Amino acid sequence: MKKNKKVSVYLDHSATTPTDERVIKAMLPYFSEKFGNYSSIHSLGREAYFAVDDARKKIASFLNCNSEEIIFTSGSTESNNLALKGVAKYFLEKNKNIHIITTRVEHDAILEPCRELEKQGVRVTYLPVLKNGAVDIAELEKAITDETVLVSVMYVNNEVGIINDLARIGKIIKKANHKIYFHSDATQAINFLDCDSQELNLDLVSISGHKIYGPKGVGALYIKKGTPIKAIQTGGHQERNIRSGTMNVPAIVGFGKAIELAKKEQEKNNKKIAKLRDYFADKVIKEIPDIIVNTDFNNSVSSHANFCFVGAEGEAILMSLDLEGIFVSTGSACASGNLDPSHVLLAMGIPKEIAHSSIRFTFGKHNTKAEADYVLSVLPGIIEKLREYNPLYNKSNSN
Ligand SMILES: Cc1ncc(COP(=O)(O)O)c(C=O)c1O
Repeated sequence: MKKNKKVSVYLDHSATTPTDERVIKAMLPYFSEKFGNYSSIHSLGREAYFAVDDARKKIASFLNCNSEEIIFTSGSTESNNLALKGVAKYFLEKNKNIHIITTRVEHDAILEPCRELEKQGVRVTYLPVLKNGAVDIAELEKAITDETVLVSVMYVNNEVGIINDLARIGKIIKKANHKIYFHSDATQAINFLDCDSQELNLDLVSISGHKIYGPKGVGALYIKKGTPIKAIQTGGHQERNIRSGTMNVPAIVGFGKAIELAKKEQEKNNKKIAKLRDYFADKVIKEIPDIIVNTDFNNSVSSHANFCFVGAEGEAILMSLDLEGIFVSTGSACASGNLDPSHVLLAMGIPKEIAHSSIRFTFGKHNTKAEADYVLSVLPGIIEKLREYNPLYNKSNSN
């Protein structure tokens, strides 16, 4: 690939993905001739109803559950809020003392609702993680108490790509007390992994459309039949009174199509993406000195390669790559604008100064070897230059 200012290499698929053309095609009629309201009784409304019903079935098939157990939302942020606050609300209204267990490396869409719940008197345990970012299962076992009502553990970490052993965690939770409900934020998993709610013993699962080549602003929450939960937003009575608001029919249709494609093409895409990611990561490790590899390639999804480039500031690397037409992230895209080092890397034991030098490359199904080569042709020079400008780095290296 020729180096010129017009290139655009997108390596930020964990932040969002381009909408697949087949998804757009499926959505389009629902903006125009099939624009009916899902709740209307006339035939235009019924048309929308059946389209949503079809998407619900596709999502249920992916998660191996019944379609009545799927609630559509605006994305994983809302699904996570509904899962945590909705379950807590049920117990708080009964004046129960309750305890929730989660992990230190969750997305803010879990951590912030947990902090809010703490202010309402809920006790929350934030589990530590191992060096590779996986939840420390021994600590989970110790944390469970008689008051524990909910455990929330992400399936795949958005920053480093580590996969948590949900099957094992699910077994431990249910063995300790079958009345503890198990939630997972599976936002970053569904593109790459099977997500069988039954096998994983899950009671609640959050997923989102825009991470799987579907549209933005749509997601779903799986709520296993019998799970105690209260609505946190009221008004329209949609989604069995659990999530009020007019259904975003085109986006839901697109989400259904995207999840169908993700399932059908998962194996093929995984192979292609892993090959490219491994090729890229090997070269980075060989060609750039003084780096820390934050992704455990033996236990991560195929997309992620997260590194610390010691002595070079992550934000400066990101900007320099942007000038070369390459799009990456310093961690979670949702946290950009926030100059604090990644809470995930800190929890993994990376020192604060080094955590500031992290860059997350996340590959997708459209990336090519030529693109990886192009990035490899500019990245070492960028790191070298930034290190030259850093007197502290040069001093520590000459000692
Ligand atoms: C793990 C995880 N959870 C939740 C979210 C938020 O999802 P959404 O953008 O659908 O609200 C993200 C998005 O980056 C994520 O990576």
